[in-house]
Order: sequence, then C-alpha cells, then structure tokens
Amino acid sequence: MTTPPTTKLNLDNIQGDILSGIPKKTELYYFFQILDTKKFRVQLGKLAPIIKTAAQVLHDRKCIEDHKKRGGHGLIQIVGVNVSFSHLGFQKLGINDSTLFGGNTNDPFSVGQLNDAVRNLGDPTKETPNGVVPDWEKEFLQPIHGLILIAGESHATTDKKLKEVEAIFGVGSKTPSVKKVKLIRGDVRPGKEHAHEHFGFLDGVSNPSVIGFDPILPGPAQVRPGILLTGQDGDPIQNREPWAVDGSFQVFRYLFQEVPEFHKYLRDNPLKFEDLTPEEGSELLGARMVGRWRSGAPIDVTPFKDDPKLAKDPQRNNDFKFKDQLNSQQRCPFAAHVRKTMPRDDLESLGISVESRRIARRGIQFGPEVTPSEKQEDKTQKERGLLFVCYQSSISNGFQFMQQSWANNANFPFGEQQPEVPGLDPLIGRGTPRKMSGLDPNDATRELTFPDFIIPRGGEYFFTPSIKALKETLSEKPPRSAEAGNEAEVEAEAE
Ligand code: HEM
Repeated sequence: MTTPPTTKLNLDNIQGDILSGIPKKTELYYFFQILDTKKFRVQLGKLAPIIKTAAQVLHDRKCIEDHKKRGGHGLIQIVGVNVSFSHLGFQKLGINDSTLFGGNTNDPFSVGQLNDAVRNLGDPTKETPNGVVPDWEKEFLQPIHGLILIAGESHATTDKKLKEVEAIFGVGSKTPSVKKVKLIRGDVRPGKEHAHEHFGFLDGVSNPSVIGFDPILPGPAQVRPGILLTGQDGDPIQNREPWAVDGSFQVFRYLFQEVPEFHKYLRDNPLKFEDLTPEEGSELLGARMVGRWRSGAPIDVTPFKDDPKLAKDPQRNNDFKFKDQLNSQQRCPFAAHVRKTMPRDDLESLGISVESRRIARRGIQFGPEVTPSEKQEDKTQKERGLLFVCYQSSISNGFQFMQQSWANNANFPFGEQQPEVPGLDPLIGRGTPRKMSGLDPNDATRELTFPDFIIPRGGEYFFTPSIKALKETLSEKPPRSAEAGNEAEVEAEAE
C-alpha cells in the first residue's frame, strides 16, 4: 500500500533506492573505475537527469498498484538508474569528501570495505605479496570508484538502459571515461519463491519506517529521516556541507549462499519438540535460526507453528519485541538472525535505543535455482546468493556495528548475565567457534555448531549523493574550448 507522503523531505532531490527501493524483478550492478576524470564529470551531467528519484519511485509504485487493480496483464515497463561513489571515487573526482565522515579517517567509508573486511567484519582472508586481503573475487580487490544500479521489470529493459548508460560514458569508443570492473545481475526468484531469499525465507519484511514518509504500522518505532539520509534530523553528523545533504551511505556485500548444504544441515538436525515429524522439526530449526518462518511469520509471535496468514498481514508481521522474552530463548533464540540484527526490547527495555542501528535493506538474489544434481549431492555447484545492499546515514552506526558488535559477537545480547552464551548469528555471524544456544526449545543451553552457510566474496562502501550534488558539485559543464556545435548539444542535454 502506498500512502501519499506528508514529508517535508525534498523527494525530487533524493535517489530512489534509498527511501523506498526502486521496484524490480531484476537489477544490474555495474561497478566501475573512472579513467578520465574531466570527461567523466562532464558526462555525469548527462547521467544525472536519468537518475530515478524518490518522487519518481513513488509514482512508479502507484502505476504498478493501479495496473494490478485494473487486472492488467504482464508487468508494466519500469526501469530506474541510481549511482554511488566510493571514497576512492571521490578522490579520483578531485572532490574533498571529508564532510561525509566528519574528518574521521577511521570511518569505514574512508577506510573502504577492502580494509574493513579484514579489520572489523571478520571476512575470511588470504595472504598475498601485498599483505593480507579478504578472500574475495579478484575484481573486488581492485579499486572501485562507483556503482551504477539499473533496476527494472525485465532483462530487456535493463539491458537497454545499460547500453544507454554506457554510451553516456563512451564505453565501446576509443576513449571511454570509465572502465567496467564487474557487472553482476540479480534476479528475484521465480514463482512461489518470489521475494524469498535462496534459503527459502521471505525477505524484506522488516525495514525501518521513516517518520512522515512511510505509513505507521504496528512494529518498531518509526525512525527520523536522518537515520537513513545525511543532513536530515537524526543524522549523527551536524553541519554537513550542502552537497552532502540528502544522500545516504550504501553498503554493498557480495554474499554467496551454500543452499544445498544449508538444507542438509536442517535435515540432519531436526528439533524434537512435542509431536513434530522430523520434517517439521527441520522447519522449526530453520525458523529458529532466522527468527521467522519461511513464510515470514515471526517466531516471537508464533513460535512452534507457522502462520502464513499472519506473515502476509502488515498489521501483524512486525508487531513483536521479544517483550516477555527478555533473558529467555523459549520463543526465539538470542542469536536468531532477526533478533541479532534488531534486538528490539532486549536493548530498549534497558533504555538503549536501537534507532541509530536501523538500516534500509534493498538487495536482490543472484544465481539460479538449486539444480537436481545439487539437491542429490547436497553440494553447491552453481554460484548463488544475495547482492546485499543497505542504506544508512552512518556505516559505523549501522551496517558495520550490526555485523561486528552484534552478529559476530557471541556474547550479544545477554552473554554476561546468562547461563547460556547466545553465540553467533547463524546466517551472517563470522568467527569461531561457530555455534549458538537457544535453538532447542526443550533445552536452551544446548549448543549447536554449524558451518559457514554464507560466504562474503566482495563488497565496497559507497555514498549515494543527492540529485543536486550530482548536477552541481560532481558534474562539470563541458569545457569552453569544445567545438561550438558539440558544446551546445552537450549542454542542452545536461540541463
Ligand atoms: C545472504 C545473506 C542474508 C540472508 C539470507 C538474510 C536473510 C534474512 C531474512 C530471511 C530476514 C527476515 C525477513 C525480514 O525481516 O526481511 C532478514 C532480516 C534482516 N537482516 Fe538479513 N540476511 C542476510 C544478510 C544480512 C546482512 C549482511 C545484514 C546486516 C549486517 C542483515 C541484516 C538484517 C536485518 C537488519 C534484518 C531485519 C531485522 C528486523 O528488523 O527484524 N542481513 N535477513
């Protein structure tokens, strides 16, 4: 349901993926290096007008809603482009971006994810002649200056838009201004698995609801706009330079999922509870690892039986806080993915706000469905996983804190006071030993160990600037020396 925003935010100035997410069935991730700064800045002036804004995304969503109401056939053609830059990208552009990290050179954005992955995120590493680096795909070990996202309803529409974008930067000509470092396509899963991530769980159920922008629904308190947007109420950094207002930090993580292995693990370790069949015991184990059933229903509300109707009901599917469960793992383990990444009353009942930890997740799946041969062998043979993207006004408050201090921290949230140590987030937690308590509802102290089901293979931190910044600060008018005819043409298009 789309509600007309009552916000004072300038939705024409904010890139579309941040507040609402560009509607998509498929998405291209185009990671690039800038080769020719001068040329790139002129050409960026031509990209800026085709960037999808938050206002346009709301309009697109309304069109989709109307199309569905009319019983229209197929999908309406919708495509959206957004662009972001890394710290290295701003350096290459010759832009002083210290306003983005308040001059703190330890800030993750300024350090870059390649370094942060080794220092703070716990990614697997490898030795190279240049030192220890994350064990990532080789493209992500190179400098990446920016990321262009192209999201839409079909491969044809997004491919066509990619060609348009590449043409702007002269890709394919003798003197392109950018070099493609990596192109990845994500696709939502087919049929009944639509909107479910590859392990099978409905994704995108809980995202921060922004005051004045999103409808108010039962669930976690709404957040101030500045939790996601720089320069707005709630942004931890005051007095941003004007060009840094209305942007957001974008975290990208290239996360591979070992799906057949995950399902084998569930099959091999069914929970014995009341009269559950082994199959139901395996379902329960998965639900207790995630904190929601595959349908999306939260186990804090419906702990031992799935409730698909509740899962679909926005009035109820986020209406839980682990309220009567403080210091208890009976309904939901402390380390379950949704409890680790959004502990709700575990912290708030102690007077600790979780507002600044909220992130807006906008990822998409990549890779094919599990093949019959993979199913038979219980072994991953094809690459698949999640192109994880999230937005926030501070990476150190949001993604980095969540990964390092919560998911990777076996003692969070109640380690010190509890007989049982919560353990790692079984999906994304990094570290050893890989175990958690609370999975067995009959014995919360029983610990289960698990292998790595999710393997990080790349990533970077970006900043998604405002439209004004793209048009006025980051792009440049064509040089005066340009041939008169050409100049007029380029300027006219750059308006
Ligand atoms: C392949 C990797 C991942 C998978 C399969 C996955 C899966 C899920 C699922 C199934 C949910 C529950 C549905 C929902 O609320 O949307 C969820 C929620 C969530 N995940 Fe992940 N996730 C992954 C990576 C991450 C990462 C890297 C982070 C951040 C460090 C993260 C943070 C969150 C947050 C904040 C929530 C919502 C918690 C809440 O408010 O209840 N996830 N994830």
